[in-house]
Amino acid sequence: MRKPLIAGNWKMNMSMNEAKDLVVAIMGIADGTSDEVLVCPPSIHLGMLAAKAAGSDLKLGAQTMHQEDEGAFTGEISADMLKDYGITHCIIGHSERRKYFNETDESVNLKLKKALEKEIIPIVCVGETLEEKEEGKAESVLRRQITGAFMDISGEDASIVSVAYEPIWAIGTGRTAAPEDAQKTIEYIRGLLKEEYKNTVSEKIRILYGGSVKPSNIKDIMKQKDIDGVLVGGASLNNEHFKEIIEYK
Ligand code: PGA
Repeated sequence: MRKPLIAGNWKMNMSMNEAKDLVVAIMGIADGTSDEVLVCPPSIHLGMLAAKAAGSDLKLGAQTMHQEDEGAFTGEISADMLKDYGITHCIIGHSERRKYFNETDESVNLKLKKALEKEIIPIVCVGETLEEKEEGKAESVLRRQITGAFMDISGEDASIVSVAYEPIWAIGTGRTAAPEDAQKTIEYIRGLLKEEYKNTVSEKIRILYGGSVKPSNIKDIMKQKDIDGVLVGGASLNNEHFKEIIEYK
């Protein structure tokens, strides 16, 4: 049985005070659900928010981390630094990181390995662009991203990873994949994982959907059999909207 994960990705949003208020509001809701609830704020807020959320069921994650342990990597944050503050999860290879910060399947694989070595739960993002979708290349892109990300990762480690399928044309556009189409693609991704690993592993890996998730579509998305949760951007910044999403049942 895969436990659903409802995750918020705040991206580069929220002042210090807004971040505190939002986490306090979400903590109460997270404590009242059997699903796992996670928020990924900008890294500068993580220490402060970890102290606020201590003792609640709300989990905190980073939006990225570096693949090296330490060193001359100006502006970067290591897995050990996240661990120091009790940060349990990290988004890896979000399409915005791939697009604006030159992350590749190779660097995603290195970050994934480092996160697993340091016992941080990774959420690896994959997804095709509109152009790739229209050219019928979505499946080959996903195959490249999944095999690249999971290269040389053992089945035991892989079973800890969550994958987020985020079609790039659905991110921040208000245009969501039809839940049945998202289900088909996520079933395809689970098939790819089955090729890499045993069934027992691929059945353990959570696969989330991301891309314009909102209160009006969460129920239909979560009804799909292979969709184990959501990665929410815009709607996770609004306490009422995120509450409705968490309470989709
Ligand atoms: P969105 O972002 O919900 O605003 O589309 C999702 C994401 O980028 O993770």
